[in-house]
Amino acid sequence: MASTKTITITPLSDHTGAEVEGVDLSKPIDAEVRARLNKAFVDHSVLVMRDQTLSAPQMLDAVKLFGEVFHQQNTRFALPECPEIHYISNQDKYDDGSRYIPGAGYHTDHSNAVEPPKATVLLALELPDSGGDTQYVNMQEAYDGLPEDTKRRIDGLKAVQVYQSRHSTRKLTGLSAENRARVADSVIHPIVRTHPENGRKGLFINPIRIDDIVGMEEAETLSLMDELMAHATQDKYQYWHKWRVGDLAMWDNRCLLHKANPDYDMDQMRYLYRVMLKGDAPY
Ligand code: SIN
Repeated sequence: MASTKTITITPLSDHTGAEVEGVDLSKPIDAEVRARLNKAFVDHSVLVMRDQTLSAPQMLDAVKLFGEVFHQQNTRFALPECPEIHYISNQDKYDDGSRYIPGAGYHTDHSNAVEPPKATVLLALELPDSGGDTQYVNMQEAYDGLPEDTKRRIDGLKAVQVYQSRHSTRKLTGLSAENRARVADSVIHPIVRTHPENGRKGLFINPIRIDDIVGMEEAETLSLMDELMAHATQDKYQYWHKWRVGDLAMWDNRCLLHKANPDYDMDQMRYLYRVMLKGDAPY
């Protein structure tokens, strides 16, 4: 069994990401290791556990070390044999036959939920020879780097978030009537949120889901979103995860944006298991 003496946790960049070695998630994990991993998750925002060989049910058991499963809004990608696990694949198509790349645009997962998921976890099963990194943006670092007058201007602003914003340049797959009935029409969340576990403030914006900023005209909303996105997505706030087969990576949706990078040979398969964990209402 892993012990806190045999696991190592090594940062992957100055501000985001840490690699964990010495943990086999198919085996029992004791309370001390569990607490260390949960703390490392909050400290590093992306936790990568290498060399994991897990079936879908084993992945489900493993992620429960970190929280409770959050049910996806769109059940189209659920694994038939283990529906709480979904898959990410580059081989699916939109109804018009064009290729659908899940997550190809900066976003934070399901921020249109009243209580958005605190974390998303992927397990890499098949990867292209090169490319296909996941790009993370650290929104706490980005907030800290804003000019003070911008911080004053945006603190206290709230955004209306919906399943698919009318401004989104990325098209999501449509929801079935059954899924639609489970999804709130809209929710209102602050655009600066305080992390419930480390107390840091971070930008909480999502170009796919934000329809309006409360009390602003459309043009002003779009201009503010563009300004904040241009600031946040600077290289200095990013960490790009280069996947290896067997990586189980878990990231903190409360303080990161992420996107899948479709920069690889689409004849090669990219296939990962995916599950999210419940979170709290942002404040
Ligand atoms: C996602 O947005 O959840 C998927 C990210 C990825 O495939 O890299």
